[in-house]
Formats: sequence, structure tokens, C-alpha cells
Amino acid sequence: MTTASSAKMGPKAGLEGTVACASAICYLDGDRGVLAYCGYDIHDLAEKASFEEVCYLLWHRRLPTHAELGDLQSQLTAARLLPEPILRLLRTLPGGDGMGLLRTLTSALGHYDPDASDHSPKANYRKAVRLVSQVSSIVAAMGRAQAGGGPIQPDPVLGHAANFLYMLTGERPSGLATRAFDVALILHADHELNASTFAARVAAATLTDIHSTIVAAIGTLKGPLHGGANADVMRLLLEIGPSAPLEKAEEVVRARLARKEKIPGFGHRVYHTEDPRATHLRQMSRDLGQRAGQPIWYDMSQRIEALVKADRKLNPNVDFYSGSTYYALGIPIDLFTPIFAVSRVSGWTAHVLEQYANNRLIRPRAEYVGPEYPQRYQPLDAR
Ligand SMILES: CC(C)(COP(=O)(O)OP(=O)(O)OC[C@H]1O[C@@H](n2cnc3c(N)ncnc32)[C@H](O)[C@@H]1OP(=O)(O)O)[C@@H](O)C(=O)NCCC(=O)NCCS
Repeated sequence: MTTASSAKMGPKAGLEGTVACASAICYLDGDRGVLAYCGYDIHDLAEKASFEEVCYLLWHRRLPTHAELGDLQSQLTAARLLPEPILRLLRTLPGGDGMGLLRTLTSALGHYDPDASDHSPKANYRKAVRLVSQVSSIVAAMGRAQAGGGPIQPDPVLGHAANFLYMLTGERPSGLATRAFDVALILHADHELNASTFAARVAAATLTDIHSTIVAAIGTLKGPLHGGANADVMRLLLEIGPSAPLEKAEEVVRARLARKEKIPGFGHRVYHTEDPRATHLRQMSRDLGQRAGQPIWYDMSQRIEALVKADRKLNPNVDFYSGSTYYALGIPIDLFTPIFAVSRVSGWTAHVLEQYANNRLIRPRAEYVGPEYPQRYQPLDAR
């Protein structure tokens, strides 16, 4: 009998700790709480870089010169306008499921890409740039549609972060809001072999087209154990309520823990210490909440963080404080996870291009645990 189990495989549930590929994009040390893109520490990038620089870094493994950054910005700006059929499709699809909409519209986008039938490395790079630009435009248009308005034309003068906020709200964002959103995009841009990036790489390894790989990634990010957690965090805070005493936050969370429910925004497969992204988002949640005149969400989050740390020894992950950060920026909750994709599409495409460049089909084995082989086939009438 030849089965996977006889091939001496011992899978770790959820592939925990398994190294599935070599990559030059993201360095993660879960014990020391280190995250770096191509060697650059996330704290440095959050403090000093722009999202466009980070995109360049992820795609080229080095920071751009002035001229290279200018070129990339022009390419991103030129790709912002969505094909009319995409906007029409947005109007016809039922609302209410932001990530579902984003998945379908990104899939449709592939049909209208000028390089649709060209799978050369140069064409794939051009498509990666367009995807970063257009996923952002799609999410902004989705936000407009949800609010009952039409899409807003992009503003070529604005950078990626500011233009997204402008296309979403119709108002030019303040410097503070722009920088906060830019930093949020930088923090979410890549995270090694997280579930959605792995899904994208598995798809890419079949040499399917780049839009299909990003659709696989979006479908994976949608889950509540992955990107869906940031929206769940804000729903939890709203369930507790802005005028409730802070003790109620503890009560609600204690009750959830007692029911063995997971608290969204806590725990991580890789980090055993503070998620370095949470450090920035905590501060942003505090500053933006204060500025918006709503410090309550941060105060409540602090109580919950202290309780979950003391009770379960779990740290907040990237999603815990991003919920209240986006809320303070006036972003609707249904867009929180799509906004994760607005950023992560940079990392997904970087990994997909890396996979294409040095490809081998990803095809692992399963440990067979089913009925013993061989079973005797019983005719239908005899069962
Ligand atoms: C991120 C996550 C999926 C990692 O999962 P994982 O590595 O498979 O860890 P597990 O789900 O096996 O959790 C290990 C233990 O910690 C507990 N735990 C993990 N995250 C928890 C959370 N957020 N709240 C309460 N308990 C949690 C589990 O119940 C489990 O306890 P047990 O051993 O007593 O059964 C998990 O922590 C989680 O579901 N978090 C909430 C969702 C979230 O914030 N996702 C965003 C990730 S960036």
C-alpha cells in the first residue's frame, strides 16, 4: 500500500513552524518581535518611508532613488481610473460583503488589463503596479457605493494614501490623517508567509495569471482568523458601547473568554512577544481617537489588552488597534478588511513575482488517516 502516511510524514497542525519556501522579501523573528522588509526594520519604515517607497522596496528589494520613486508614483497615478465596466459591475452586485465585492471586482479587473494576455515578467510587473493602484480605487468606490454616492475621480496631485482618503470621502484629508493612513499601509504591506500570501504563492506556482493569484489571496484574507479580525474588533468595542463604564469592557471580554470564544485582535502564530505593528497602531489609535474627540475606544482597548494579557498571556496583533485607528479616521467598518487588502496587495504581488521568477509547483502531501486500503466495493443494491 502506498499512502502518504507510509512516506513517514508528520504534519504539524496548520503547518506551524514549517518553512515552505525561500524568500528575500520579509524577515520575521517572532521571539524578538522583529519585522523587516528586505532588511529594513518596520519601525524605521513606519517613521521615515512612504507606502510608495515600500512598494518599490518589496518589488525590487532596494529603496528607490528620487527618479525611480517619481516613475513609480506616475505609474500608480496613471492606473487609478477604473474601467467603466468595473464600476458598472459594482453597481449591480449586492452590497453588504465588502471582501466578497473586492474579490469579484478584482477578478473582473483581470479581463480589462491591457496586458491581460501577456505573462512576461515585464507585463507582470506592470500588472502588479496597476493592481496596487486599482485595488485602492475599487475599495474607495465600494465605500462611496455603500454610502449611496458615486465614485470620485482620483486627484493626480495626491499621493497614494491621500488619494485613497480623497476618493473615499470627497474631501482632501488633513496632513495627520494622510500620514496615519500612509503608516497603516506601510505596516500592513507584507508579513512573510501569512495565509493569504501563501495562498497567492500556491496559485502563482501553477503559473496562473497574476489577477487569479490576488483573487486567491483576497478570498483568504476575508476569513475572521486573518484579515477579518480588525472589523470584529470594532464590532466588539461598539457592542460594549461608547457610554458604558470601562468595567463593562472587562465584563464582556471575560464572558467571551469563559465561553471559550476568541477575542479578535489577540494572539499570533509567529509572534511570542508584542507584534511590532501593534506598537505603532496603539499610538495611532490613541492620537487619532483624541483628535476625533473619541478617546473612549482607545481607553476601552487598553482595558481589554490588560485583561487578555493577564488572563491568557496573549498580546494584541496588528488587527487590535487598527480597528479603532480606522474608525477614528472615519472609515466605515465594512471597509476595514478591504483596506488591509489595499496595503497587502503590494506584498502579495511581490511574493507572486518572486515565485514566478524561481518557480516550482507547490504540491505537498497529506497524511492519510481515512478508511483502511483496500475497501471492497459493494454494489449499490447490496449497501
Ligand atoms: C491569530 C490566530 C489565528 C493564531 O492561531 P494559532 O496559532 O492557530 O493559535 P490557536 O488558535 O491554536 O490558539 C492557541 C491557544 O490560544 C488561544 N487563543 C488564541 N488566540 C486567542 C484569542 N484571540 N482569544 C482567546 N484565546 C485565544 C486558543 O484558544 C488556544 O487555546 P487552547 O490551547 O487552550 O485551545 C489566533 O490567535 C486567533 O484566532 N486570533 C483571533 C483572530 C485574530 O486576531 N486574527 C488576526 C491575526 S493577525
